[in-house]
Amino acid sequence: MVPDDPLHIYELEGPLSDPERFFRESFLAHWREGDSHFLFFSEPQEDTLKIFLKKYPDLTWVRTHSMTYKDWQGGELLESWSIGKLFFIAPWMPRPKDSENIVIRMDPGVVFGSGHHPTTRDSLQALLWIYDRDRPRKVLDLGTGTGILSLAAVSLGAEEVLAVDWNPACVRTANNNVDLNDLNKKIKILEGRAEAYLHQPADLVLANLHFSVIKELIKNKSFFEKRWVVLSGLMRSEFLEVKQGLKVPGFEFIKEWDSEFTWFTLVGRNRGRL
Ligand SMILES: C[S@@+](CC[C@H](N)C(=O)[O-])C[C@H]1O[C@@H](n2cnc3c(N)ncnc32)[C@H](O)[C@@H]1O
Repeated sequence: MVPDDPLHIYELEGPLSDPERFFRESFLAHWREGDSHFLFFSEPQEDTLKIFLKKYPDLTWVRTHSMTYKDWQGGELLESWSIGKLFFIAPWMPRPKDSENIVIRMDPGVVFGSGHHPTTRDSLQALLWIYDRDRPRKVLDLGTGTGILSLAAVSLGAEEVLAVDWNPACVRTANNNVDLNDLNKKIKILEGRAEAYLHQPADLVLANLHFSVIKELIKNKSFFEKRWVVLSGLMRSEFLEVKQGLKVPGFEFIKEWDSEFTWFTLVGRNRGRL
């Protein structure tokens, strides 16, 4: 998306699943928070929405928000930014000449993983830290969002990434970012639940996810079979609970990052797999 692209966001309340089946034209994404739903479109959809609501009388149309993509991003669109040797640029920016950095093109659209959030940034720090010491070849990216961590992992040396997200808008966005960087041969994006893919073989698991999902992941034996794990998206008390949960023979907690003591990211590893 480019800064002046219009966004039409319809806020609905009530039971709703898979609106993508109904809305095709100019539909961008569906965000759900409990029973609140935000449907994103690139063009106004009032007429279609009225027809839709007749079919689903339990849904209420609460509000309409119209803004540009730039406004949606808080009025500030970072056209380029870097972290360590990773240099991210917007799709409309020219590729820098003679850059010593690794250039990654990113179009976050309206899904999570633009790189602005502390949990994404600290996950990238964790990736840089791991690839300074080792070269995990096979990576599992659970809850990929824009695909940002998958792109970074391949740029740092991973050869094969399997990325998963349960939100179809994320799958579309991540695939677009993989295309922008011509990395289709190395990164595969699938729609699905993180929990269902944990058993896949990998040297490194990336999971910037809600605490409730991470708690499920660390109950699973296959989590501890991976050589490296990066967990993020944790608040302080959650982080302490997860750290306790990593006390499993052969497995060790190695390093942590925090953003103003609010968001925590950690690296763990299986000693036997090094
Ligand atoms: C906090 S975002 C992280 C995005 C990106 N990996 C990053 O680090 O910026 C979490 C992502 O996980 C997805 N997600 C949440 N729970 C999930 C689950 N149980 N299975 C699959 N995807 C999930 C969400 O749709 C969202 O895209």
